[in-house]
Amino acid sequence: MNNPEKAPALPDIKPQTEIAVLDRGSAFGMDLQFSMKDVCVAVGMQSTFVRKVCGKLDNFSASDVILLLDQDCYRETVVPRSKVLNYLRDITLRSDPDRVISSKNIDGFQLVHGNSIQKIREIEQNSVRCVVTSTPYWGLRIYKEPRFSLWADGEYCPYGHEQTPEGFLRHTTEVLSSLFDVLAEDGSIWWNVMDTFNTRTQIRSNAVEALRAMQGHDQRSWGDHECRRYSAGHSYLKDGEQCMIPALIAERASRIGFYVKTVITWAKTSTLPEPQGSRVSKNLEYVLHLTKTRTPLFNKEIYRTRPAALGGRNNGWETDKLSDVWTLPTSSGRDGHGAQFPIALPARCIGLTSNEGDLVLDPFVGAGNSGVAARALGRRFIGIDVCEEYLETANRKIAETQRLPDDNSTAQIAQQESSGRFL
Ligand SMILES: C[S@@+](CC[C@H](N)C(=O)[O-])C[C@H]1O[C@@H](n2cnc3c(N)ncnc32)[C@H](O)[C@@H]1O
Repeated sequence: MNNPEKAPALPDIKPQTEIAVLDRGSAFGMDLQFSMKDVCVAVGMQSTFVRKVCGKLDNFSASDVILLLDQDCYRETVVPRSKVLNYLRDITLRSDPDRVISSKNIDGFQLVHGNSIQKIREIEQNSVRCVVTSTPYWGLRIYKEPRFSLWADGEYCPYGHEQTPEGFLRHTTEVLSSLFDVLAEDGSIWWNVMDTFNTRTQIRSNAVEALRAMQGHDQRSWGDHECRRYSAGHSYLKDGEQCMIPALIAERASRIGFYVKTVITWAKTSTLPEPQGSRVSKNLEYVLHLTKTRTPLFNKEIYRTRPAALGGRNNGWETDKLSDVWTLPTSSGRDGHGAQFPIALPARCIGLTSNEGDLVLDPFVGAGNSGVAARALGRRFIGIDVCEEYLETANRKIAETQRLPDDNSTAQIAQQESSGRFL
């Protein structure tokens, strides 16, 4: 039995695709009925299409599910095809979560220590107006307290340390699926994620370490590193290729019921040099805007009325039009956390898609920049992280944050910005 408290050493990442096929015979011994909601998530189809295939049913047998898995349009979501029936059996038999984190008990902000995969299921349903987060990226960073999780697909690893990009996509979809339940009907999720190149590399703690290594200052040999990523053995990705993870997350989010409103490019105003001679340097990350309805709450005017440090137009870099390219600085990475986003980024997301007093959630809160943005904008906030040290930093920063007065003037905000309070 895996014990999440006693974490094993981080395994190397070897992206070898397993050979596995669907066992159609297993449907015969399974006499459970599955709900429409669970089936739609597991097979990545809308209820209207599921009805077209199976008829007007409310509950589905294992044979109905096999019929759906055989459709040309079937695509994997939270578990691979060979495990869909067992996954449906497990979630049908598991008890409903005890939703002990209630919106009405959160006055200012609450930081929750623990694994997001479990903690999100404790939050009251439909209570969060805006989720804004930057998750671990696949195979790129080692955080201070990597927490091993047992995922629905059976893999046991910290989030971001999956053996394949598909594992990372499945786990991301599992987290997104539990967020669907806690998000308000007109709410929004903003999902900051970067792509990974399928290369052979050492995994490091932050960008500065990576830069020092590039400059020849890391004397450790390949074998001395805590964790390495290899590139061979994937069913189609070749050595050196870009994995396309952000686009694939967007596709899976759509398949489990979200509207993909926009895939935003975050164009960074500065990035580290890259040594590769056969491709252009990477200057961007992505922010996926996902919603439950076609017309979510959306306050477009904040782009013109807020200061740049709190999500307004970044003068000199951005035009008057709020577009799908956001030119924002990178974070200074102070506070001992090596993968932070700038406060302006969550502030823009929060300002656009929530009102004062609304509840904002960051399930991977790190050093707390989304919480600082939420509090400065007068929103209530929940942040979750597995690392106590990061949460201490987040707690200090959020507690020090002053809410902007309702009648704030540009001059007042400019003064606050130059004093560094929001930087
Ligand atoms: C990219 S960082 C977030 C940084 C944050 N946006 C900031 O500006 O400081 C991802 C965070 O996810 C946390 N984390 C990783 N796995 C987790 C899990 N299963 N549950 C909760 N937090 C997790 C890490 O400790 C890390 O702080």
